[in-house]
Amino acid sequence: MDCAKAVGARIARPRKTLDKMEGILQVWKKLPLLIAIPTTAGTGSETTLAAVITDSRTRHKYPINDFVLIPRYAVLDPEVTRGLPPAVTATTGMDALTHAVEAFIGGSTTKETRHDAISAVKLIFTYLPKAYADGNDMNARRHMLHAAYFAGNAFSKSYVGYVHAVAHSLGGRYNTPHGLANAVLLPYVLQAYGRHAYRKLHRLAVAIGISDPMESHRVGAEKFIQAVRDLQDLLDIPRKLPEIRAEDIPSLAKKADHEANPLYPVPKLMNAKELQRFYYDIMED
Ligand SMILES: [Fe+2]
Repeated sequence: MDCAKAVGARIARPRKTLDKMEGILQVWKKLPLLIAIPTTAGTGSETTLAAVITDSRTRHKYPINDFVLIPRYAVLDPEVTRGLPPAVTATTGMDALTHAVEAFIGGSTTKETRHDAISAVKLIFTYLPKAYADGNDMNARRHMLHAAYFAGNAFSKSYVGYVHAVAHSLGGRYNTPHGLANAVLLPYVLQAYGRHAYRKLHRLAVAIGISDPMESHRVGAEKFIQAVRDLQDLLDIPRKLPEIRAEDIPSLAKKADHEANPLYPVPKLMNAKELQRFYYDIMED
C-alpha cells in the first residue's frame, strides 16, 4: 500500500523525487484514484496519510506524510489475510497495537481518536491471540482488520511516539521488520515514560478488563505494561534483537530523535542521548 502511495505521489509530482517528499505536506497535489486492500492487519496504511519508504542505497527509512496519500477507498476482506503465517500475524498485529497505544498516550488526541484507539486495543488483546493460534479463524481475522483500521485512524490524526521513531531507525539500518521492532520496544518505552503515562495506561488497562477505575494510575499502568509483555510471550515475540551493534547506537538514536522531535506529541520528551537507552534495552548482552 505504501509503495502504491509513493507511485501515486510520483505520478502527481513527476519532477519531484521521493526523498524530496520526506516529511509533512510535501506532495500537496491530488493523486490518481487509490483503493487500498490491506493483506495484513497491522499498518493501517489503508486509512493513514503516511507512506514509509526505505531507500535501499542509503538505508534511510523515512515517512512521507500528506493528506493526499489517504486512500479514497479501503476494502477490509479477512480472506486475503487467511494465509498470513503466524509470525507475521503476530508482529503486524503488534504494530497495530503500538499505533493505538502511542496515539492514545500522546498529547494530541481528540475524542474520536481516543475512542478509535481504545476500540483497537480491546480488539487486539481479544483477537490477536486467536488469529495467531488459528489463522483460519475468520472471525478473529475480521476483528483484527478492523482493529488495524481503527488504530490507523487514531495515529493518522494523533501521531505515534518513540516506539515508532526507534523502530524506523532499526528497520532502516538492519531491515528489522517494523512490527517486530515495535513489539520488542513497546513495553520498554512505556516503562520509560513513567508517571507521565500512568493515567492513560491505567485507562487502557481498565478498557481491557485487567484493572479497576478505583485502582491507582500507577498500578493500572503497570498492569497494562505487564499485559503487553504477556501478549508478547503468547505470540512468541522475543525480548531482544540480536542485530543491534553498540557502535551503531549513537547514530541510530540521532535518527530517531530527528524523526520524533518535535513532531510526535510524546508524554515525555527525550533527546538523542536519552533515546539511546532503548537500543541498549533490547540489545543482546
Ligand atoms: Fe507502525
